[in-house]
Amino acid sequence: MKTVKFILLIALGSFVMSCESDTYADVFGYVENPTYKANIKPLMSAQCVSCHSTNGTESSSPLETYQEVVDYAESISCRLDGNSCALMPQSGKLPQVQIDMFNAWIAQGLIEE
Ligand code: HEC
Repeated sequence: MKTVKFILLIALGSFVMSCESDTYADVFGYVENPTYKANIKPLMSAQCVSCHSTNGTESSSPLETYQEVVDYAESISCRLDGNSCALMPQSGKLPQVQIDMFNAWIAQGLIEE
């Protein structure tokens, strides 16, 4: 009986976890028509704004608003790739789907929402 409960618990656990990773993919995974509000802003907030904000260490290059991210878009793209620019984030390259999403956002005209 204990074993059955244990298995149920694992099944439930992995179900909950798969739900969570779905939500994560909705925000940060590849989406065909990314917008600043739905996709780019959450990505910047999670990965960049800790330094790139008025109160952060990189206050001269804030990435907190739509206009700021638009102004730095080409530079950000180069930094995310990290081949011809110094890599950002410095702690390690983002998953390729997120880089692809950012580049798709530029290619589609930097749609705000
Ligand atoms: C731990 C702090 C930190 C984080 C997090 C961080 N950066 Fe940076 N960033 C820096 C520092 C320090 C510099 C200046 C040194 C350099 O140019 O490499 C910089 C420079 C830049 C520049 C050039 C700014 C300019 O004035 O031309 C861009 C663009 C940039 N980062 C984008 C990003 C993006 C996009 C992210 C998130 C994916 C990110 N950074 C995350 C610290 C950080």
